[in-house]
Amino acid sequence: MLSRTIRDDVGKLQKSTSRLAEGQRVLITGGAGFLGSWLCDSFVSIAEVFCHDNLATGQLKNISHLKANEHFRFRNVDVSSPEWKANADFDFILHLASRPSPADYQKHPIETLRVSTQGTLNVLELARRCDPIILLASSSEVYGDPAVVPTPETYWGNVNPVGVRSCYDEGKRVSEALAMAYYRQYGLDVRIVRIFNTYGPRIRAKGAYGRAVPRFIAQALSNRPITIYGSGKQTRSFCYVADTISAMIKVLLDKRAKGEIFNVGNPNEISILELANTIVRLTRSRSNVIHEPEGEDDPKRRCPDISKIRSKLGWAPSVKLEEGLKRTLR
Ligand SMILES: NC(=O)c1ccc[n+]([C@@H]2O[C@H](COP(=O)([O-])OP(=O)(O)OC[C@H]3O[C@@H](n4cnc5c(N)ncnc54)[C@H](O)[C@@H]3O)[C@@H](O)[C@H]2O)c1
Repeated sequence: MLSRTIRDDVGKLQKSTSRLAEGQRVLITGGAGFLGSWLCDSFVSIAEVFCHDNLATGQLKNISHLKANEHFRFRNVDVSSPEWKANADFDFILHLASRPSPADYQKHPIETLRVSTQGTLNVLELARRCDPIILLASSSEVYGDPAVVPTPETYWGNVNPVGVRSCYDEGKRVSEALAMAYYRQYGLDVRIVRIFNTYGPRIRAKGAYGRAVPRFIAQALSNRPITIYGSGKQTRSFCYVADTISAMIKVLLDKRAKGEIFNVGNPNEISILELANTIVRLTRSRSNVIHEPEGEDDPKRRCPDISKIRSKLGWAPSVKLEEGLKRTLR
């Protein structure tokens, strides 16, 4: 069963999948993850959804409510394996399989690179057979530590190619290069979204997978110290999950997005310290903030320029940070 908080948003997202996806076959790699499972929910009422995930960072509980749905099929598979074969043809492929949590990918750099390189190649080769529309989930991390903030899609990035984050950052850059090569050489209908920090219900809170928002929430709710890496002056821009998913659906279904790259995020930039203080206030927590050494190559600022998606596709986020945090807390 979906919680009410998720159900309300999913209801609106389902409407936006529109008639374009009705009866279509949709493959979602990484569909048991945070964003992937929201996409499964958004398409399953109208389309046939195939979710391929090896549960590296995803969780079965994100999709367990879909198990009995005849329009939903789950396969526990590694999409970067040479043996991976999808035995069906698809109208849409949403390629999200990845290991996006810094603590996790730094522990598994080879698997992280493999899914962005071989995994993306496998997906694109499959696409050559069935000619679907492909949405690649890329990341703001392709910009590295940007010299231009807010960062537009035209900025080429400032990435340390051999640093501890390179397995993810460079992996996403190769993924994008592969997608554009297949677009240019074979005419595949590829669309790329560079997603900035997204949070909301189902984001993993625990262990190596925990990212800032869920980690701070878990620490605040149990009145434990909130751990900030570095001074906390580094900034991020947090986008509520339903906003990110609505942008992904728009890019997938709008024909003007063919061959295009879009930033997806909320341009409201705040410091990590401000984020921690906001969560402490909203949870009425007694937690204090403690500082740990700064992460290697941690970007100093992160804020999207969303002019392109706003003017071309008419998308902008609608959920303010406090409202999104309250929904996440619920
Ligand atoms: N959430 C964010 O803030 C954010 C920001 C930028 C980019 N992204 C991108 O969006 C996508 C989804 O991210 P998320 O936040 O939902 O993360 P997530 O970790 O919850 O989801 C990723 C999913 O991919 C699966 N996966 C990993 N390797 C795989 C493999 N080899 N074969 C099959 N499945 C595999 C994982 O098990 C997981 O379910 C990723 O591509 C990520 O890089 C997310």
